[in-house]
Amino acid sequence: MPAINAVISTERHDNVFVIISNSPPVNALGADVRVGMDAALTEALGDDSVAAIVIRCDGKTFFAGADITEFGKMPADPILPVLCDRMEASPKPIVAAIHGTALGGGLEVALSCHYRIAVPSAQCGLPEVKLGLLPGAGGTQRLPRVVGVEAALPMIVTGNPIKAKQAHAIGLVDRLASEDTLAADAIAFAKEIGGNMEHPVSSARTDKIIDGIQNPAIFDEFRAKNARALRGFEAPEACIQAVKAATEHPYAEGIKVERNLFMKLMMGTQSAALRHLFFAERAASKIDDIAKDTPLIDVKKVGVIGAGTMGGGISMNFLSAGIPVTILEMQQEALDRGMGVIRKNYEATAKKGRMTAEQVEGAMALLTGTLSYDDLADCDLVIEAVYENMDVKKQVFTKLDEVVKAGAILATNTSYLNIDEIAAVTKRPEAVLGLHFFSPANVMRLLEIVRGAKTGPSELATAMALSKKIKKVAVVAGVCDGFIGNRMLMPRQNQANALVMEGADYWHVDEVIVNFGFPMGPFQMADLAGTDIGWHRDPTRIESIRDQLCADGRLGQKASKGFYDYDESRRAIPSDAVKAIIADFRAKSGAEQREISDDEILERQLFPMVNEGAMILEEGMAQRASDIDIVWINGYGWPAWTGGPMFWADTVGLDKVVAGLEKYGLPVCQLLADKAASKGKLTK
Ligand code: 3HC
Repeated sequence: MPAINAVISTERHDNVFVIISNSPPVNALGADVRVGMDAALTEALGDDSVAAIVIRCDGKTFFAGADITEFGKMPADPILPVLCDRMEASPKPIVAAIHGTALGGGLEVALSCHYRIAVPSAQCGLPEVKLGLLPGAGGTQRLPRVVGVEAALPMIVTGNPIKAKQAHAIGLVDRLASEDTLAADAIAFAKEIGGNMEHPVSSARTDKIIDGIQNPAIFDEFRAKNARALRGFEAPEACIQAVKAATEHPYAEGIKVERNLFMKLMMGTQSAALRHLFFAERAASKIDDIAKDTPLIDVKKVGVIGAGTMGGGISMNFLSAGIPVTILEMQQEALDRGMGVIRKNYEATAKKGRMTAEQVEGAMALLTGTLSYDDLADCDLVIEAVYENMDVKKQVFTKLDEVVKAGAILATNTSYLNIDEIAAVTKRPEAVLGLHFFSPANVMRLLEIVRGAKTGPSELATAMALSKKIKKVAVVAGVCDGFIGNRMLMPRQNQANALVMEGADYWHVDEVIVNFGFPMGPFQMADLAGTDIGWHRDPTRIESIRDQLCADGRLGQKASKGFYDYDESRRAIPSDAVKAIIADFRAKSGAEQREISDDEILERQLFPMVNEGAMILEEGMAQRASDIDIVWINGYGWPAWTGGPMFWADTVGLDKVVAGLEKYGLPVCQLLADKAASKGKLTK
């Protein structure tokens, strides 16, 4: 196999010239790949004995996109759009042979080929929008010309990939290959078409794009339908504009629109933030001080203690991943109820078409209910999800220590209790760790893996590996009150309350946070979670506004009244009764009332969170700043386009954050002060 360079080689099969990329892990289209492909193309085009060309990849996937690590640097020649144009202009037909994931620039390469053949397990997509970008190598112009605007818009604007079978159905893929014989099938395809004179050129096609030309309303309809999901993000609108340009201009003009929009996005903060999150998510799964070859525990069976909302949701994660679960309750009635809810949730998913009836039964067949701890004896992992009370948790772990086999992981789903104290009641503290799921546990992507002082490396590495199996994004946290997420929530809530006492309307405090990009503000969140969370349950003891709300039965959305009144359609309306309660508290406190600006409302809530995050780093409770961003984006609705609290603080400027905290008389930790003074950043 003649090598062009370290990553590109070629093969000859009679009159077919095969260009092969082997650039692990995902065949990203970095400079070496582009240079090698360009040289291979020159060789093929200059050789009269070559009638057709195949491009394929070794390893786990076809090109998964441009090399994201090159973004923000001077691009090396040939840049991808030029290479794509050169391929498309080839007089000899080129066949793209697709396996794995043809994503972003990878799919743009395939679209620049004249034919595409794919294995059934392959996926095709243009996920650039998820990086705050749009396809910048002709994708916004070629895809709609190949599949039509109706099919292209969702692919480009949501960034979600489609399976090869669907790609074949819409004409993106010309032919499906056998799963194991892609290379040979592609060569056979190339031989078939090699003698033909005419070949389809994506950028010159006009047949499919006619849907968007004849019905320009399609763009506004798409905007309206997806407005909620796209709120706050710049790239989706740019994607829509680029595809629209494809219907309004010839290719040569449309591609200029694409390039301008692409460059604008590439220079912007949103794309930098979203690229930060891409790498942050991958970094989060790495545990710095644990060897890569640490042996993992084979988790074949999971036990869950508690069949309430949390225990049920946790169980569903494992059932959906095909791992058997035994769920334990104290009373038969509670067990039946909990298992019934799990079935109902699965059936609701099936009703929406996201699961088949067989899959529902398959998952339920893996679930066993029990009232006896003895049935947990052979579990490889047991997760406790009972009432948040240290004594209760200690009893559970004492019992688990007695019955569960040696070598198993014993996990608690506590959201703030001390894991080391829980581990201390067992004779195997190395087996104990925290698995803090977020409600609803079967939906929310975040998982905090809490590492106790004595948690063993195998146990920790296994928890991390398992998190991938159950499709969570996991972050390692140290033992501290509230771990990463809830710990940072506290200073925000304190400031929200203080702002209200000083004269801000609570619905205005919420509004400012929603305008920043959160799905809800602190008071809306309190209503959703229940105002009685952490309540002392004595209606005669009134020490805070929340105590009064609880005493009045204003327990939040579940009671149709909390900080807000809720109508039948769950619309939140500021409550006169709550306004009166607040007025009363303000009068009693004697606090001076004043107009508070939106800037102050925002800064007083978010800057202390940044400070708390910096303290978490300072104390080593998070491995890296980007882990904190992952927690807040995936667990608490922090707007992704800002990159998370730590990245956001860097973009605001740490000196400005520190100056703000000082102005409001709020604490500044040493790490934050030092970074600000040295003009450093929290993230790299
Ligand atoms: N560039 C550089 N590195 C990449 C990369 C890319 N496009 N895609 C993945 N990687 C790296 C990851 O950072 C990771 O590195 P690490 O091991 O050092 O952490 C490694 O490859 C493996 O990636 P994953 O852990 O994500 O592997 P999976 O098997 O879980 O997933 C994947 C594979 C589905 C290909 C996933 O990596 C992915 O979605 N990649 C990004 C695809 C993408 O966004 N492409 C568009 C790029 S932008 C573009 O093409 C612009 C163009 O229009 C001009």
